[in-house]
Amino acid sequence: MKKRMRVVVAHRTGGHDDAVADAPGLDGLREPWDLGGLRIPNRVVQAPLAGIGNRAFRLQAHRHGAGLVVSEMVASMGIHHGNRKTAGMLRIDPAEGVTAIQLFGADPSVMAEAARAAQDAGASAVDINMGCPVPKICKTGAGAALLADPVHAASIVRAMADAVRIPVMVKMRRGLTPDEARPVDLARRFEQAGAAALTVHPRAAAEEYAGTSDHRITGDVAAAVAIPVVASGDILTPGQAAGVLRSAGCAAVMIGRAALGDPWLLGAMAGGHAARPGLEGVVAEVARFAADVRATLGDHTACHYMRKFYPWYLAGEDVPAREVAALLTDPTLDDALARLARLVGHA
Ligand SMILES: Cc1cc2nc3c(=O)[nH]c(=O)nc-3n(C[C@H](O)[C@H](O)[C@H](O)COP(=O)(O)O)c2cc1C
Repeated sequence: MKKRMRVVVAHRTGGHDDAVADAPGLDGLREPWDLGGLRIPNRVVQAPLAGIGNRAFRLQAHRHGAGLVVSEMVASMGIHHGNRKTAGMLRIDPAEGVTAIQLFGADPSVMAEAARAAQDAGASAVDINMGCPVPKICKTGAGAALLADPVHAASIVRAMADAVRIPVMVKMRRGLTPDEARPVDLARRFEQAGAAALTVHPRAAAEEYAGTSDHRITGDVAAAVAIPVVASGDILTPGQAAGVLRSAGCAAVMIGRAALGDPWLLGAMAGGHAARPGLEGVVAEVARFAADVRATLGDHTACHYMRKFYPWYLAGEDVPAREVAALLTDPTLDDALARLARLVGHA
């Protein structure tokens, strides 16, 4: 998803729904579930995020408690053509926990080949992108465009399920446009074609990110299929996560934007993990994450990648806006990390 999208992160008060953070209603989030024979230790899934969900990001999400982590979308055609950068996106660290590699593409045999490559790379599962609304992806017939031809989309699921031993998941919007959306029909076809789980982002692709996700639609899908359904979209707090899990009757919740700059949110949902710390702890986490990012992307790319994260981590913290702005132009990653260290008094 290359299109420049302003990623809006919910305003933080530092408290993650404090009133309910330890409420008994959260117990459901902390139970294991079965994904096509894989044991997932809790109901909290880190969302696939293009340009973000690399190995370092997934390691961090796992460290903070996500039971399942999903890669950013990877081009099946890039794997087919032996593109080195694409091949690098398949690298998985065993310390990431249960990891799904998300693939996009429109050709069943190329997607099957990519699924095998992901399996060989150590993926626990593969996920098919049927939700990306970006024209660059859709005009190749991939992403949400697959939803326009359910028979063809199901043939991709079948080809991949036949090609690998690991579970094949599908991440779908409710349809291309609100008027034509038939999510239950799509879900049943994917289940019959061999999908082991579905993730539903219940907006239509044409709606992009407008409005709020209606998880009654997710619930309709969950009621219609026997395989686990994961709910994705606008789940911001542990209380909401528990509420969607219960009311939609789904197997798990997927967390995307709300955890950007706030990986502690995953732990607040999954339980047994440290709460969001004060600024000093936030800065320590950024430094730890940045070290993994550097090891994953190399110094130069890591410097640029980390710039997305500073405003997210510092939202709601008592840091002057000019310091946040300066972090975005510091020429090297070390310069930015040194600035952050100075902010908390470590010269
Ligand atoms: C920056 C960004 C990148 C995304 N990239 C992907 C992607 O590569 N694959 C995918 O299936 N969904 C992608 N999504 C959609 C998310 O996985 C998720 O379904 C959506 O953001 C709704 O969840 P949220 O409200 O928790 O963020 C992306 C979303 C954002 C904001």
